[in-house]
Amino acid sequence: MTTTDPALDVDLLRFPPGFTWGAATAAFQIEGATTEDGRGPSIWDTFAARPGAVLGGDTGDPACDHYHRYASDVELMASLGLGSYRFSLAWPRIQPLGSGPVEPRGLAFYDRLVDELLGRGIQPVVTLYHWDLPQALEDRGGWRDRDTAYRFAEYAQVAHAHLGDRVREWTTLNEPWCSAFLGYATGIHAPGVVDPKGSLEAAHHLLLGHGLALRAMREQASAEHRFSVVLNFCAVIAEDEEAARKVDGLQNRLFLDPLAGRGYPEDVLADTAWLGDWASVVRPGDLDAIAAPVDWMGVNYYSPTRVARAEDPSVVAEGPFPGLRGVEFLPPEGEVTGFGWEVRASAFTSLLRRLGRDVAVPLVITENGSAFPDELVDGEVVDERRTRYLVDHLRAVHAAIEAGVDVRGYFAWSLLDNFEWAAGYSQRFGVVHVDYATQERTVKRSGRVLARVIGANAVPARGYDLG
Ligand code: FCB
Repeated sequence: MTTTDPALDVDLLRFPPGFTWGAATAAFQIEGATTEDGRGPSIWDTFAARPGAVLGGDTGDPACDHYHRYASDVELMASLGLGSYRFSLAWPRIQPLGSGPVEPRGLAFYDRLVDELLGRGIQPVVTLYHWDLPQALEDRGGWRDRDTAYRFAEYAQVAHAHLGDRVREWTTLNEPWCSAFLGYATGIHAPGVVDPKGSLEAAHHLLLGHGLALRAMREQASAEHRFSVVLNFCAVIAEDEEAARKVDGLQNRLFLDPLAGRGYPEDVLADTAWLGDWASVVRPGDLDAIAAPVDWMGVNYYSPTRVARAEDPSVVAEGPFPGLRGVEFLPPEGEVTGFGWEVRASAFTSLLRRLGRDVAVPLVITENGSAFPDELVDGEVVDERRTRYLVDHLRAVHAAIEAGVDVRGYFAWSLLDNFEWAAGYSQRFGVVHVDYATQERTVKRSGRVLARVIGANAVPARGYDLG
């Protein structure tokens, strides 16, 4: 039972005092204005222009037209009570060619956005790279080329030098697993390359880019700056230990271990060796750069991955894991989202408990959310399934905190419905609905519940609303 006074009638699961509440977006998914103010093309512009690459031929224009509507979008965030906002900078707005000349109009946009956020008491959490590599760098090899890591550090230095007087929280990469393996192994994401061995080299160069960018920013940072990286971990569900080990290795430990100073995991090196000696791209000093400590780690979680041992151990698994053999991916069980992703909050708690043991720094949930085919009826979006997903996953985070895991914040994916990469505009993840024809925003029921959760710093122990 709920009433208008949650403190009296609803059992609450309270989050720790000072817990960070926010929502997340990414530049290419919301900004639009892809040719404005000197922005250079990114790999996503090129990829989206390739027939058949993105569902429905959708492109990054106009997306949510956030480039022009940022001020009212920030007002919307304030109305939801967000304390923080996680967004990414478009590298090709700041350095249109990926290196060298800096575009002041690109930086000026982020000045305006950051100032607007701070003016409303919302802390900006900046991601430097959420997949929109300048095309000029891809033309020189992209993340398969070591030089891209150095260019990334140069860009990080420029962005941090410019915005660091106002932005305290900095994330280098969002989900390098996706950049490397969706981009260069299956090619279902930009730049659309199919090169499994090269995708592992790209993974190393992404991690190196993270390390070099971190070093460059630390050198010019003040004490208040905090640095992080965001990974998409997979919560593996498998009866077979060997299958679980292989998938966990390629998704989680391949990234976690070098970041934690343990180098690349031996078993993953052995599993992927048949593709060729990709690890020969690792040069002396690289692993030290990658292992430089971060202040917190971002965790993106949506859904578990079910796997089993394949009957034939030499069979190459379908999908984005380079070199994976002897493993079969199983279909989801139980409820799925509109995207077909399994809904299982308990797997989130297990994952967080494991990360609590394996990661030495505090965790922040930097993305979590669900896509459903929402309908705007009489000016309202009653997204019951997303609301349930949100509350159930917040309970899962709360359970992990109760179990002793140091989780400091939660960012809902996403603030707005947006360009969902290869799925175009077909998948709506927002807690705010966007009518792409009119650009009108409508806070969904899930958004209203999130606002009340933020206000109470708590989720209801039962049921799905707080009054
Ligand atoms: C994550 C991405 C984010 C969004 C969600 C649904 O992998 O970081 O941009 O597309 O998935």
